[in-house]
Amino acid sequence: MKYKLEPASLSECQSDLACVFVYASEKVSDVFKAADPAFARKLKPFVDMLSEHVTEDGFKGKAGQVLTLPTFGHLDTRRITLIGLGESKDFTTAHVRKAAANLVRRLPGDSFQGNVSFYFRQANPVKAAAKKATGKRQTKTASVAKTGNTTNDSEIAQAIVEGILLASYSFKKYKSSKNGDNKKEKSLQSLSFSGLSLTAKALSDACIKGEAIAESTNFARRLIAEPPCYMTPSKLAEEARAVAKEFGLTIKVFNAQEIERMSMGSFLGVARGAKEPPKFIVISYDVPKSKRKVAIVGKGITFDSGGLSLKPAQSMEHMKYDMSGAAAVIATMRVVGKFKPNFSVMAVVAATENMPGDNALHPGDVITAMNGKTIEVNNTDAEGRLILADALTYAVKQGADELIDIATLTGAVVTALGRVAAGIMGSDQALVDKLIDSGAEAGEKLWQLPLYDEYSESLKSDIADLKNAGARGEAGSASAAMFLKEFTSGKPWAHLDIAGPGWLDRDREECNKGGTGFGVRTLCRYLVG
Ligand code: BES
Ligand code: MN
Ligand code: ZN
Repeated sequence: MKYKLEPASLSECQSDLACVFVYASEKVSDVFKAADPAFARKLKPFVDMLSEHVTEDGFKGKAGQVLTLPTFGHLDTRRITLIGLGESKDFTTAHVRKAAANLVRRLPGDSFQGNVSFYFRQANPVKAAAKKATGKRQTKTASVAKTGNTTNDSEIAQAIVEGILLASYSFKKYKSSKNGDNKKEKSLQSLSFSGLSLTAKALSDACIKGEAIAESTNFARRLIAEPPCYMTPSKLAEEARAVAKEFGLTIKVFNAQEIERMSMGSFLGVARGAKEPPKFIVISYDVPKSKRKVAIVGKGITFDSGGLSLKPAQSMEHMKYDMSGAAAVIATMRVVGKFKPNFSVMAVVAATENMPGDNALHPGDVITAMNGKTIEVNNTDAEGRLILADALTYAVKQGADELIDIATLTGAVVTALGRVAAGIMGSDQALVDKLIDSGAEAGEKLWQLPLYDEYSESLKSDIADLKNAGARGEAGSASAAMFLKEFTSGKPWAHLDIAGPGWLDRDREECNKGGTGFGVRTLCRYLVG
């Protein structure tokens, strides 16, 4: 996609579509007047007619509301789309992202391809209203109040690009072209922006950032969308290699023998039930002069059957998305490689299937993790924490001084927060707060759950150092996190449980149904700004 600043007024606009932003409290005739006074004066009857039509259609400028009107030859552009931004005092970039996504979903025709112009009437309609907090949170840090409202014109442009590219994603690889479905692609060729107070360079930087983040999210979505028979641990490793190569990163893929030599008994325990060989994948971005090294650790279960503690059919249906954490950290490395932060970042992925093969773990088995701790496996379906245990230990051994893991770890977090927000827990409140803020700014909701020491009581084993599954129905997400904490060696650590928002059954805002690539935007925002 091409991006340009376009000083042209609405009446001179040559694009296929001209988009005008409208706040809830505004009259549409005033909006046109402000957007292009000459046009509004010269074509007053037409503008009045448009305004009337808008009211009749129930367009109220609500956040995300979109209405497209034909221009009947009065303008060079054939259509004007009004985009609602909600109340100006509530404005956040999330509204712009959502509006841009809705715009794509309503583009005329199934295969709209063309140029779109965006008209802002004030250089920054937002700054005045940028103070108010969106969500109320339980933590009290000062930075939280600004969350999602630190808007400037660059952020607006970036959010538009993100919304457009995220909503344009589709996965049609397995659709035969006979039914014509393959051809129905919406793709915008260029975007132009009028009324943003940005230099051409600043605009282009913002758009390129938005594009990189959205493309990486869509990359993660593609990995998740692939069926489990295709997206095996070996395939995932191949995808990771391609990312490393394209973005100039170092990669090491360990095979089963090497994993065994590293004494990752907990990871290997899970892999035992599967025919597909496990892979341990490490992608590194190194800044030798920097002392800071952040490890992002992803759960890479390419299919979770539950193992011998087999899942019922319904719960198994979408379990290809159990590698969403892995997809997120691999995708994030694309952005890290492109924007090169001034500290080191390491992505660590333990990838295996969780299957009930004839060599599978028995419930009751005891395994020894890389850090020497013994684990009684009382439930083979609590496999995510077993593979993450060794991945976290590995990251610590490699000198990471900050750990962020991301995983579709528990059904309990879906019960608690639905598919709206991810659960976040951790041992370092400052890190947790920074990630929550990054998420809000990037359009991903993270809600903190407490990690009371008491939650680890249910993980006590009679015969080993700990067991892997706590009491059913009791703070399942927090007890899973308490298990992980045992493998963080006291390093600052945060854990994102994305089981809820990682998968959607219907399109929602900028997320399409299926695997969402949740976490990529938050991690990118945290790591490269
Ligand atoms: N991958 C699942 C968690 C999950 C559930 C992700 C639903 C997405 C949607 C995980 O491996 C799992 O099975 N967790 C168990 C843990 C339990 C056995 C302690 C769960 O949540 O039921
Ligand atoms: Mn499981
Ligand atoms: Zn799982």
